[in-house]
Amino acid sequence: MPLGRFLAAALRHPAIVGAIAPSSRCLAAELVRRADARPGQLVVEVGSGTGPMTRALAAADPAFPRFAVEALPEMAAATRRAVPGVEVVEGSAADLPRFLAERGLGPIDRIVSGLPFAAWPDGLQREVLDGILAAMAADGRLVTFTYAISPLVPAGRRFRRLLERSFARVTTSPTVWANLPPAFVYVCDGPIAPQ
Ligand SMILES: C[S@@+](CC[C@H](N)C(=O)[O-])C[C@H]1O[C@@H](n2cnc3c(N)ncnc32)[C@H](O)[C@@H]1O
Repeated sequence: MPLGRFLAAALRHPAIVGAIAPSSRCLAAELVRRADARPGQLVVEVGSGTGPMTRALAAADPAFPRFAVEALPEMAAATRRAVPGVEVVEGSAADLPRFLAERGLGPIDRIVSGLPFAAWPDGLQREVLDGILAAMAADGRLVTFTYAISPLVPAGRRFRRLLERSFARVTTSPTVWANLPPAFVYVCDGPIAPQ
């Protein structure tokens, strides 16, 4: 999808897209590296957009991601064009447990997220993260990026606190400067089941 069409989608649905440009190759590579997925593991992507992370995952192992979840039909179509072999489910990451059950798949080992959590209100952050937590293996890992300014923004700080309550261990990558805007990755291990 050309940059102009991405921007148009972002302007039509600012709270859903939560970005002004697709992630760079550097940021996609950092997410895939931090996911540290092994052959045979169940890897799922959420918020695939135009597919930069889908492409990087598939380049690492053609079995990755097993499927991607994308809320906007036009973005789902863009992911399919970027990586034609990957199944893209149109819907919300909050419904991951149902998407797994429909496919007879077990809990997810690695979730690679492009979701704009730091742009969301509290209720939506919790709703989507609860769906993710309920779909993860006990030793599973979530990797999700956020823009470097997010620790300065109340919703960004709230999201970090939510992650820290929801996982046994949360670490961060260094800032990836080669991205518009610069970003870093939260690496979250050991989901704690939603109360
Ligand atoms: C910041 S963009 C990132 C897109 C792509 N991963 C990238 O890095 O360029 C966020 C994407 O998440 C999608 N999205 C937003 N809410 C979602 C939800 N609840 N479930 C699945 N996808 C969602 C948006 O439509 C958008 O494509």
